[in-house]
Amino acid sequence: MNLQDKVALVTGGAHRVGKAIALALAREGMHLVIHYGSSEAAARETVAEVKSLGVRAISFQADLRDPVRIRSLFDATAAEFGRLDVLVNSAASFVRQPFDEIGLDDWKDVLQVNLRAPFLCTQHAARLMRRVARPADEAAAIINIADLSGIYPWRDYVQHGVSKAGLLHLTKVTAYELAPTIRVNAIVPGAVLPPPGVDPQGETWAAIGARTPLGRTGHPDYVAQAAVFLARNDYITGALIPVDGGEHLIGTLK
Ligand SMILES: NC(=O)c1ccc[n+]([C@@H]2O[C@H](COP(=O)([O-])OP(=O)(O)OC[C@H]3O[C@@H](n4cnc5c(N)ncnc54)[C@H](OP(=O)(O)O)[C@@H]3O)[C@@H](O)[C@H]2O)c1
Repeated sequence: MNLQDKVALVTGGAHRVGKAIALALAREGMHLVIHYGSSEAAARETVAEVKSLGVRAISFQADLRDPVRIRSLFDATAAEFGRLDVLVNSAASFVRQPFDEIGLDDWKDVLQVNLRAPFLCTQHAARLMRRVARPADEAAAIINIADLSGIYPWRDYVQHGVSKAGLLHLTKVTAYELAPTIRVNAIVPGAVLPPPGVDPQGETWAAIGARTPLGRTGHPDYVAQAAVFLARNDYITGALIPVDGGEHLIGTLK
């Protein structure tokens, strides 16, 4: 797909990996909807940075546990731009919790954000993406940001891993379901950005990188490059692309 003057929506796009993806798509000439949950100031800054690249952008707040707000996110996208060409489901809840302590609400919260929201966003996006006529060889694109925990079991990340495994399968079933007008692919990042509280210059993060085949941690821009590639390439659907320094070759590190 030629991305110039097309429209992308990135969930969790205010900062960190989602922001890197949003900026990379904006550099390709895409107009952006920056979804955020609680990071209002960061979303405002990201919108300003995106606009400075010469494209249009809005931000929109939605708690992804709330189906009504998810619908509003797509209504706002339709009202502002009248179309949607690329959806990136990047927002996620990353919760570490011992198995015995997982309560019903803990399970529900993570599954709602990491799996139900991407499903609902895909459903709303598909309706909006189909509103415009597209050349037969230029499908719209949905990109899900998954995690190696959806392939390999990590201790103390039960609900996170199960939700990401579901997201990987959602990618395949929707790729089949929505073809040929919409392509759906997933990126499976490895250690590209430490979670808040882990020092990016510290030993813990360096040690995680050292155990990967490429011997180092990554950067959100590697994920953003893969997102641009998947948005542009018109003949890839249902693919799960690791961007992980080869971590998937050796399995779980946790
Ligand atoms: N960082 C890594 O190295 C890494 C590795 C593997 C996979 N990934 C995947 O890559 C994606 C982005 O990673 P990241 O590290 O940038 O993620 P993150 O910082 O943990 O979370 C991304 C965003 O999700 C949003 N979010 C969480 N709960 C929400 C809710 N209930 N409603 C609305 N928004 C909510 C937050 O938005 P607000 O801040 O606005 O609330 C947050 O900015 C995630 O899917 C993650 O699983 C990342």
